[in-house]
Formats: sequence, structure tokens, C-alpha cells
Amino acid sequence: MSIKILNNDEKKWFLETKNTVYVIGVDENKNIQHLYWGEKLPYPSDYPGVLLLKESIFDNFEQIIKEEFSPWGGIRYKEPGLKVIYEDHVRDLILKYKTYKLIDSDKCKTLIIYLIDSAYNLEVELNYRLIEEYDLIERWVNIKNKGSQSVQIKQILSAQWHLPDMQNYRLSYLYGRWAGETKLSRIELGYGKKIFESRRGITSHQFNPWFAVDNGQADEDIGKVYYGILGWSGNWKIVFEKDSYGRLQIGGGINDFDFSWQLKPNECFVTPKFVAGHTTNGFGDASRKLHHYQLDYILPGNLNYKTRPVLYNSWEATKFNVNEEGQKILAERVASLGVELFVLDDGWFGERNDDTDGLGDWYVNKKKFPHDLTSLISYVNELGMDFGLWVEPEMVNKNSKLYNLHPDWVYHFPNRPRSESRNQLVLNLAKKEVVEYIYDFINKLLDNYNIKFIKWDMNRPFSEPGWPEALKPQQQEIWVRHVQGLYQVLDRLRRKYPEVIFESCSGGGGRVDLGILQRTDQVWVSDNTDAFDRLKIQEGFSYAYTPKIMMSWVTDSPNWLNQRKLSLEYRFNVAMMGSLGIGGNLNNWSKNEIKLAKEKVIQYKKIREIIQHGDQYRLLPTWKGNLIAVEYVNKNKDKAVLFVFLHSQQFGEKLLPVKLNGLISDSLYQYQDENKKIILSGKALKEIGLKVNLKGDFDSKLIILEKQNRRND
Ligand code: GLA
Repeated sequence: MSIKILNNDEKKWFLETKNTVYVIGVDENKNIQHLYWGEKLPYPSDYPGVLLLKESIFDNFEQIIKEEFSPWGGIRYKEPGLKVIYEDHVRDLILKYKTYKLIDSDKCKTLIIYLIDSAYNLEVELNYRLIEEYDLIERWVNIKNKGSQSVQIKQILSAQWHLPDMQNYRLSYLYGRWAGETKLSRIELGYGKKIFESRRGITSHQFNPWFAVDNGQADEDIGKVYYGILGWSGNWKIVFEKDSYGRLQIGGGINDFDFSWQLKPNECFVTPKFVAGHTTNGFGDASRKLHHYQLDYILPGNLNYKTRPVLYNSWEATKFNVNEEGQKILAERVASLGVELFVLDDGWFGERNDDTDGLGDWYVNKKKFPHDLTSLISYVNELGMDFGLWVEPEMVNKNSKLYNLHPDWVYHFPNRPRSESRNQLVLNLAKKEVVEYIYDFINKLLDNYNIKFIKWDMNRPFSEPGWPEALKPQQQEIWVRHVQGLYQVLDRLRRKYPEVIFESCSGGGGRVDLGILQRTDQVWVSDNTDAFDRLKIQEGFSYAYTPKIMMSWVTDSPNWLNQRKLSLEYRFNVAMMGSLGIGGNLNNWSKNEIKLAKEKVIQYKKIREIIQHGDQYRLLPTWKGNLIAVEYVNKNKDKAVLFVFLHSQQFGEKLLPVKLNGLISDSLYQYQDENKKIILSGKALKEIGLKVNLKGDFDSKLIILEKQNRRND
């Protein structure tokens, strides 16, 4: 595994990971051409060389070659990686290969290729960082203005990927809406462009920046899959472009929509990372590689080795109606279940009694909490739990002291309305004073109180994104500056309070991406807490993200959103597939429910290591039938957990056995079925499967398998 360089008549780089190789080369025009991406081949001569000028047909050479990063300039019509306007209004960009560098200092090898537009001294670094064990390549671009005049960046992607020829390109992607995020969809990509994007200022509920492409035949365990994921929490886009020769190029990064960036002399602009990989072992392997990559490389290191605590959140139980007395009663009940972290959600601050008031005024509401938060927090701590708090720092209600004081702190245009959504406006994080205000109030909260968890919410998309005080060439930078401001505050807070867990929330799963995950430990996946609906949302989520960050609550039945009634066991089993939380009104739970809840929390604590750090297998997906099964296997393969769910069973319908995966073939595993202990080999569990006795409409089962030390002779 390494980065090899061929330096004879032509210059080529071979980026080798454990199972794949990615090859690029320089052509006679000093373009960087993409040559190969896939399984390793036996001989160096097997790999294709660069296309030569003379091979060009009617289409221009630059149109024909697969450019690693294409400038907008010359005779080019495909989606560009970079488009600029120079100060003299020249809008033609010429990027030529200059040199390269290898970095081998951290746990990864990185190749940097330098391109230059020499007439203007604009340097572009293409970065390739190899995540060798997971067959992933992180790509990003760094632009340096070494010239003497400003450059206006109009479009800049993080990477362009070229896929090998396939008869069909089938795209898998994640779409959704509020309370219905991350649903998997599959389409065949025809000729032309298909664009997925966010223009909302956040990653969005509508589309998540993840993709997978196969030839239409890959399944969970077999088949070639190319897949990628972007690390950006603001406006993004991914463009799939199948050209008239049937070749697929995938470009992704910051969205150029309404975007412009002024790069002054000696400044640089670094794009977010776009990570992609290739596997021959289907979608399951692709997901598991992304999961482990996130655990090992993305999530903040300081807390990552620990499993997530079981938390309680007050939102569904008490909504805005929180007060010291009520929360203390809830805390007592919750503690008796074995919960480890008590989170006070919205309603504790300012004059906040519903969603019309108070956002921005981050002082404790003394009517609701006459003894400040200290009394509640001490109480929670005495009950043996940590304390967590909800905040929504990027927002303000018009009915607030903050807005009265600083009406110019929100995005707005003169002579235009300020459109409210959920009665709130978005603060302008491009402004340094706003970023300072946010840092200061959270810093004070963390300094003054024993808070171990922050739920960072963001409950509306942007509108009227004006920044009238800024100079004109910078006003459209807000889309990027907002995200940079957000990242800055989070990074500073994490450095100062490394033991505090941060959860990212945006009206549910509106801000889930690798950018926010570098600075938060977990995410609130959806406001939809109906356990059956949740199965689909969690399944889509699992294609892109590790179960460890997937916070899932057990809430009341019937569910507030769709009135569906589900048993407590079913609701627990669904929530236990990620990081377990409880969000029901415990004042209304019966003795039997409390008893069962205690047992389930104990059970979860025993298996959470397997769920949060193990390998996940989607055995029977939601879209294949009415039996759904997901399995988790720990690293040593000596423990596994199987979740099975049944819905809408027709009378007499036979349930097929569930075939397990990821176990050691000739090892024996024991599990309990009703009252019987059953021992079977990993191979038998894979080939014959495991019979589950489920019935009716919404039945579920959680089965734990443990490897036996003896052999069955
Ligand atoms: C959003 C979140 C909820 C809750 C409310 C509070 O909708 O997704 O979990 O925190 O805000 O207003």
C-alpha cells in the first residue's frame, strides 16, 4: 500500500489502498488525466496510459479526456471544478501541472498535485489522502492566490470522480423531508446531468450528500460499488454527468448557487473534503467501511473511544412547559430506569413559553427555575446522572431582547421582508460579533454549570441571505462564512471542554454530514419518533453513517405524529439499534412499562459496545418485504445482536428464516429462542438461518448470540 510514481516518459501516480488502486497521470498538455480506479491489476503495464492529443476526434481533447479537476476555460462544456473571474475580467482559467509532493507524516499518505495558471499566479493544490484500510480516498482542493490582484471564485468543487465504463449506472441516494429524512432511492442515470443539492444554508432534510453507484446488479454482499460522501454543513451540490459517450463524472462540493468568494492576494481557500471509495463486496461493505472510517477518522477523538450514554430528553414529555419541579420529578423516574444523562430541551431560557418568543436570550427563566439551573443540575447529579442542555444558537425570535438590541444581526436585504419560519430568523454568522456572542453564551453556560452535553439545534433554513454591511464582492460569501463561523465556535468549545458531548440537530436530521461530525459526537436523526417509520429512516441513514451517532428515543404510544400504537418492547428494540435515548412522559408509564424499560436499559448496556463499535449487516431491508432484520457483530466476532421486526402479516404467510452474516463459519454460537437454548455454527446460521417466531402486525425480537468456546464434534 503506497503512493507509487512512474517517472519515465510519462508521469503517473498509483494511489494504492488495501484492495484498490487509483491511477492518474500528466499528459503532453500538462493536464491531469484520470486513468483507472478499481481493483488492483497484476502488472503495471495493465493500467491504461494517458490519452494522447492525436487520438482526439471531433470533440475537443479536453472534452474527451477524464480530467481530474477541470477548470472552466478553453473548449470545455462539462461541469467544471473551478470557475474564476480575474480582476481584469478575464473569465478563462488555464490550469497546468506544475509539480507534486508526497506527505507521509500522519497515519495517512497524502499526494498533493500542484496546478498553476501562470499568467495570474493562481495555484491550485489537489489533495489526495489515502485511508488505506477502508479503501477510501479523501479529496479536497486548496487555492492560493499568489498574484497581486484579487480573484473572484464563482464555482469550486472539492473533487471530480470518474467511474469506469458500465452498461448502466444505477445511482443510490438519500432523499427526505422533515420527519422523514434519509430514505433510500435508486434510479438509473441516463445521459445528461442529475444534480442533488442544498440551497437552504444547511445540509438539509431533503437530500443528504452521500451517493453510491453500481451497474444495477450489486446487492448487500456482492457487486462493485463506487460510493462517496461530502463533509459540508451548508449549501452543497453533487452533479452526476453522463456524457454522450456514456461515461460518468461525479463532481461535488460547495454549491455555486448564489455563491461568490473574493480571494485577495496571499489568501487561500480550502474546500471541504469529498471522500469516495470502491468495493467489490456490495453496499453492505461500502456502509461498514464508511462507519469505521467515521469512528476512526472523523468523529472527535476525545470522546470517541467511549460508548454513548443512555440519555433522557424532555422534549416530547413536557415541550416548552418545563420547570424545576416537573423536571425533578421526571429526573427521579428516569434515574430509576438506569438512564445516565438527563437532557433539558427547549423552554428553559428567556421568555420562552412557545416558539414565538425568547430565542437569542440565553439567560435562565427564573419563573420556571427559581433556583437557577443549579438546583436541578445538582439534583440530577445526585441521582447519578449527568446533565445536558438544549440550545439553538444561530437563531433569534423577533420577540426577544437580542433582536431588539441587534436587528442587523440577522440575514436580511434592505427594502425586503424578513421571512420568518417557526417564528424565527437566522443570525448572520459571517459577522464576527455574532460568532463571539454565541461562543460567549455557551462558554458561560459550560463554565457556570455542570453541563456534560449540549444539543445544538437549528430549526429553519435560510431566506433573504443578505449581508448589507459587507463590501459588495463579499456579500455572497455568507453561505460559506456561516458554516465557517459555526465550525469555529464548535472547535473552540470542544478544545476548552473536551469532556462535553455535542449533539447536532436541525429540526431532526437537517444537518447530518461529515463536516458537522468532525465536531459533534452524535446527531438527532429525525423528529419522527414513530418506531415503525423510524425503521426506514434509520435504514437509509445506515448507508452513509455509523449507528453510533444515530440517537434514537423511545417515546410514548400512540405516537404524537401519526397516532400509531406500538408495544414498548418494539419501540425499545428500534431505538436500541443506535444510541439509545428515552423521550416519553414517564409520569404516564405503568408499573409494568417501567419494569420492562428497566430491563431493556440493562440489556442495551450489555450490547451497546457491539452496536456502536461493531459491524452492521442489513440482512432484510425494509423495501424487500414485511420482515426486517439488522445484525451487529463485534470486532472479535464472538458476540452478535439480531433485531427482527414484522409488520402486516397475512394469515398463513410463512416467515423465512433470517440468514446471519459476519460470523466465523466453524465457530459455535448460542442464542435463546423463547425458553430454549440453541447452538449453531456460524456457517449454519448463514446458510440455513435462524427461525424467528413473530406474529401479527408489529412484532419484534432482539436476539443475542454468543460464541462458545467448545467445538461441536
Ligand atoms: C426541534 C428538535 C426537537 C426539539 C425542538 C425544540 O424540532 O428537532 O427535538 O428540540 O426543536 O423546539
